[in-house]
Amino acid sequence: MFSQRQETIKQDIEQALSEVIDSLNCPSCLRQAMAYSLLGGGKRLRGMLVLLTAELFKLELNRPMPIACAFEMIHAYSLIHDDLPALDNDDYRRGRPSNHKQFGEALALLAGDALLTHAFAVAAEACRTYQPKTAFAIMCEIARAAGPDGMVGGQVIDTVETGHALSLSELEKMHNLKTGAMISAAVRCGALLGGAEQEQLDRLGRYGQCLGLAFQVVDDILDVTGSKQELGKTIGKDSQQGKTTYVSLLGIEQSQQVADDLLAEAKAIIEPFGSPGRPLIDLAEYIGSRRK
Ligand code: IPE
Ligand code: IPE
Ligand code: MG
Ligand code: MG
Ligand code: MG
Repeated sequence: MFSQRQETIKQDIEQALSEVIDSLNCPSCLRQAMAYSLLGGGKRLRGMLVLLTAELFKLELNRPMPIACAFEMIHAYSLIHDDLPALDNDDYRRGRPSNHKQFGEALALLAGDALLTHAFAVAAEACRTYQPKTAFAIMCEIARAAGPDGMVGGQVIDTVETGHALSLSELEKMHNLKTGAMISAAVRCGALLGGAEQEQLDRLGRYGQCLGLAFQVVDDILDVTGSKQELGKTIGKDSQQGKTTYVSLLGIEQSQQVADDLLAEAKAIIEPFGSPGRPLIDLAEYIGSRRK
């Protein structure tokens, strides 16, 4: 369960995302397909991480909001493509038909492309108002995390390796790329916006890495123990497709232990920030016990 504060921030992000959709001037079927995945639920974890990390440096939440939106747009695109028949072939997402089931594969593919590209437009527009050095650093973070050395690279390993066994270290690498890279970059972008020094940036980046890997380990667990109703996605998909996951290698209990250890490390990194770090610690706790 989210705290009241997390719920409020989630709603603020959703309001900003709906303004992004309203400002589009594109074919209406494309707008509809983009809105379907961008506004149709989701925990808004990545957006929240941008905002809460920036807040650690006393930045008002509206300054980093476009960057939070960019992360959620790239995330939404990654889910649309992840569900396509050529990847996980998943019919159900966020409690309803996945994008290609609703709009067909061609439009789903293009809506994903559009969300990815437009995320960079939204981020770049906002960067006009930031210090040039910060602006360049943020654009680089986002592009690197989303691309071949980040999320897309991880997705390629996942898809190409489907049906083949991975070792634990290969699996960890894949999870760090497909999920950890974007989560860690969201934290780093919040820190960059807040004017973090290199040492703080490194520490917070490590917090993000721990969180990101733990998040995907818990995703693997929920694929076995979760309920379709709570999660809003198909259960048992990983074993059905012969994927190596933390659960297939370590079992449920040991996987939960891995996640808990990572989250303990994440929390320890934030503790020196004192009470302003509390929301980031709460998020780590949420990730360890989430049911959706
Ligand atoms: C799902 O991410 C894909 C993974 C990286 C595991 P989320 O669980 O954050 O998806 P939403 O945005 O809340 O639906
Ligand atoms: C997807 O991982 C990670 C992405 C980059 C989208 P999964 O394939 O495990 O995500 P779910 O379980 O479909 O949400
Ligand atoms: Mg997948
Ligand atoms: Mg999937
Ligand atoms: Mg999964």
